[in-house]
Amino acid sequence: MAGDTFYKEIRAAGGAYKWHCDGAWRESTSGKTVGVSNPATRAREYEVQACTQAEVDEAFAAAKAAQKGWARTPLWQRAALLHKVAALMRDHAQPMADCLVKEIAKPSKDALSEVIRSADLIDYTAEEGLRALGEGALLTSDSFPGQTRNKLCLVSKVPLGVVLAIPPFNYPVNLAVSKLAPALMAGNAVVLKPPSQGVVAGSHMLQCFVKAGLPKGLVNMVTGKGSEIGDYLTGHPAVNCISFTGGDTGIAISRKAGMVPMQMELGGKDACIVCSDADIDLAAKAVLKGGFSYSGQRCTAVKLVLVVKEVADALAAKVAAGVEKLRVGMPEDDCDITPVVSESSANFIEGLVEDARQKGAKFLTPYRREGNLIWPTLLDHVTPEMRIAWEEPFGPVVPIMRVASADEAVAHCNANNLALQGCVFTRDINKAIAISDAMETGTVQINAAPARGPDHFPFQGFRDSGIGSQGIRNSLAMMVKTKSTVVNLDKDSYASG
Ligand code: G3P
Repeated sequence: MAGDTFYKEIRAAGGAYKWHCDGAWRESTSGKTVGVSNPATRAREYEVQACTQAEVDEAFAAAKAAQKGWARTPLWQRAALLHKVAALMRDHAQPMADCLVKEIAKPSKDALSEVIRSADLIDYTAEEGLRALGEGALLTSDSFPGQTRNKLCLVSKVPLGVVLAIPPFNYPVNLAVSKLAPALMAGNAVVLKPPSQGVVAGSHMLQCFVKAGLPKGLVNMVTGKGSEIGDYLTGHPAVNCISFTGGDTGIAISRKAGMVPMQMELGGKDACIVCSDADIDLAAKAVLKGGFSYSGQRCTAVKLVLVVKEVADALAAKVAAGVEKLRVGMPEDDCDITPVVSESSANFIEGLVEDARQKGAKFLTPYRREGNLIWPTLLDHVTPEMRIAWEEPFGPVVPIMRVASADEAVAHCNANNLALQGCVFTRDINKAIAISDAMETGTVQINAAPARGPDHFPFQGFRDSGIGSQGIRNSLAMMVKTKSTVVNLDKDSYASG
C-alpha cells in the first residue's frame, strides 16, 4: 500500500480516511471519526469520517447538480469512462484487496479476485449499456381499434436521477460496483454509503472512479454509523432510487422509503436438496464449497442440506471428510475458514449452534471458537424445531436435515420467508426441472451450489429475500424509467380511405 501514491489523497494527515463529495476528499466538520476493527485481531485497524446530516445534504446536492450534465453525456462517452475505471482498478488492485483482508478477514486470494471480478463487471456493464440503453421502441396508434396512424409514440429509457447505493460487508467492492456501474451507465448520479466493515476498501474503489475523470459530484461517498445517518440517507427527498444489499435492515428501509424504485437483495436460507439418485461426490463437493466459502458469509451460501434418507449417511460422511481438510486460520495465510466479521456475528452463530445442541443435533465435526474464529461445523439429524433449520447463520455452520422425499424438502424450503436461491442434485433432468419449478426461490441451481455469478445472470430473491432483480442487464433496466414522446401528426392526412 505504502508505495501506491494513487490512493494518497483518500487519507487525512492524521490517518483517518476521508469522505468524498463534489469531486473532493474531505474531513468531516463533525471532527469525529468511526473506528474499523480487524475481525481477526479485534484491534482498531482504520478510522473513517463520522459524516453529519448536513454533509449528507451536500452529497445529494452535488449529485443532483452533476446528474443534469451527465444525463446529456453520450452513452459511448459514459462507457469509455467506465472502461477507464475498470483499468485503474486492475492497475491498483492489491492495496484494495489488502483492505478486504484487514477489514472483513477475506482470504487474500478471494480478496484479489473480488477486485478483478469487479473490474470485469464494470467493463461488461459499459458494453451491455451501449446496447440495452441505445435502443428504444416506436409504437404507432393504428394498431389499436379505431385509430388512424397519426400518433407515433417514441419509447425511450431515461435515468432515475440520484441513486443511493448501500453495499454489504461481504462484498464491499463487488456489490458496490454492481450498483455504481449500471447506475452511472444509465445516466444517474450516485451517493454511496459503504458498509461499516469494508468502508476503506470501498474508499479505494471509489478513488478509481474519481481518478478516471468522472464529472465532479457524480459519485459521492458518505461514511459514518448507519445508526446516525442511515435513516436520514434512506429517507432523503433527493433519493430517486435505493439499491441495497444486506440483511433484514433492508426490510425496514423498504417500509420507510416510500415512492422510490428499490433494488433489494437481502438474506437467504439457501437449501441444497440431494435426491436418492444424486451423484454424491458432486453433491458433497458442492456442499463443502457452497457451505464454507468465505466462512459461509455469502447470501448464496449453502445454509441447509435436505438429503433423502437413503443417501444421507454417504453424503454426510463425504462432507465431514472434506471439512476435516479445510484450513482454519488467518486471511493473510489464505486459509479456507477465517474469522467472521464481528463479535456480534460470532455470538449469533454460536447461539444457533447451542440451540441445535440442546435440541439434539449430532455434531459430525466438533464446534470450536476462538474470538471471531469459528471452526467449520457440520450438524446432522437437524430437525424443524431447531432455529438453524430456518435462520441464516452467515457463518461456517452447515446443518443436514434428513427427509423422506424431495417433496418434503421442497415443502420445508417454501415454508421459509427467505427465498433467495436453492440447488438440487439428481441425475434425472425431468425431476430437476420439476423440483426447480416447485422451489419458490429466485434461482435454482441444478447439480451445483448456489451462486450469484456469473454477474450477467439475473439474480433476485423472492419474499423477504428481495425486491427487483440484479445481474447486469436487469440492473441497467432497474436504473432507468420509461419515457414516452408522442408525435401527434395532422389527423386528416391520415384519415383512412
Ligand atoms: O450478495 C450476494 C453475495 O453474498 C453472494 O455472491 O458471488 O458469492 O454467490 P456470490
